[in-house]
Amino acid sequence: MTTTADYGEKIPNNVRLHEDRRLQRALESWQPNFLTWWQTMGPTLPTQDVYLRTAVNVGRDGWAQFGHVPMPEYRWGIFLAERDPGRTVGFGEHKGEPVWDKVPGEYRAELQRLIVIQGDTEPASVEQQRNLGATAPSLYDLRNLFQVNVEEGRHLWAMVYLLHAYFGREGREEAEELLHRNSGSEDSPRILGAFNEETPDWLSFYMFTYFTDRDGKYQLGTLKESAFDPLSRTCEFMLKEEAHHMMVGTTGVDRVVQRTVEVMREHDTADVGGLGAIPLPVIQKYLNFHYSVSLDLFGGETSTNVANYYTAGIKGRWMEDRRKDDHKLGSDSIMVDALVGDASGEPSIGQTEVSALVGLNTDLRREYIADCQGGVKRWNRILEEGGVTQRLKLPHAAFNRKVGAFAGIEATPDGEKISAPEWQRRQDEWLPSAVDKTYVRSLMRPVHERGKIAAWIAPPRNGINGQPFDYDYVHLA
Ligand SMILES: [Fe+2]
Ligand SMILES: [Fe+2]
Repeated sequence: MTTTADYGEKIPNNVRLHEDRRLQRALESWQPNFLTWWQTMGPTLPTQDVYLRTAVNVGRDGWAQFGHVPMPEYRWGIFLAERDPGRTVGFGEHKGEPVWDKVPGEYRAELQRLIVIQGDTEPASVEQQRNLGATAPSLYDLRNLFQVNVEEGRHLWAMVYLLHAYFGREGREEAEELLHRNSGSEDSPRILGAFNEETPDWLSFYMFTYFTDRDGKYQLGTLKESAFDPLSRTCEFMLKEEAHHMMVGTTGVDRVVQRTVEVMREHDTADVGGLGAIPLPVIQKYLNFHYSVSLDLFGGETSTNVANYYTAGIKGRWMEDRRKDDHKLGSDSIMVDALVGDASGEPSIGQTEVSALVGLNTDLRREYIADCQGGVKRWNRILEEGGVTQRLKLPHAAFNRKVGAFAGIEATPDGEKISAPEWQRRQDEWLPSAVDKTYVRSLMRPVHERGKIAAWIAPPRNGINGQPFDYDYVHLA
């Protein structure tokens, strides 16, 4: 067992890479391709160096170090959480058996697919966010953007390591493909819809890190339960880094709402559009968009594939060991969202009962929704404390869906089913319109001066790693 990272190596790692020359060489030949991808598809704002956190260890304390680093020289490493030698499979038909150090032949294709899909999202978000540096509201925010970017790069490394180490030639080919698909590309887009959307402004960035990165947290949480131990340990460590990404999103939206409240009070009007702040209805529309596309990432309400992953032991539930059932779900059931026929035979928004195994996507989405509710609660507290009566809310699960039971219908944020023409006519009431987007973009002027901040967002309560807000987080080139 080793937890200390080897930093003398070309690729920092705690997986004893030097003991497997073939694997080491394969990864070292992928490394320049990764760097080329970073240079061509990564952050576009030229910088000298950035105050970044770098993972150096996986222990309880001191797993990361902070310092100013030129971004292309960031030490992207391979880190697996510490091995638990007595760990057994926690669910499915292999429950209680020792976990797997190798990929069982019968589950090879499924495991590879899950790793590729997870791996594809990591570089995608870097691509989506590549131009945001040019309009950062402060050096603090700029630094956070780059921190998220380098860590998504490291998450790509984490998945590529698994592909190289455990999936042979096919795994190496998939690792190449992860650099060739690109977010929003016509010919070879990223695999999942939300990762081909633009992140054109900072309100979108905070909403993305709140809602879409949070989907990542839940997917990693289910893979952390996997009987394939290297996957489990990789995801466990990734979740540690992911917590910072959640913080960026949560506090980012906090600060936008905070500033809007201040301007509303100052001018005694809800109409802050001309006053340099983002009106609450526009914040609500951005929330509606990012939340609904993120719900799609959980897949259909029912899935026999996911039932099979569970039974096989390769993908578990969120917090599997806290569930008080037999962890096999052979005879349990669950209510899932569905279109059901009303009296006239018209399909209407409702629920239907299915076997718990088949409904696992719904189970995970439900955990996610409850978590998202937490954000809305805190943003509403900011509104309340600011003496503002308006509130934000999560739209109904049927709103703006492209995947699952409600993909074929249109619904309002309140969950009222409407016709396609009505949706066409009214969608600008609920999703960011061209006018909203243009307005938000008009606010996106860079503030790259130490200690200064843009007028549409409040400063953070705390800096990074104990540093003040006016610290020199980024040195521009
Ligand atoms: Fe990630
Ligand atoms: Fe993330």
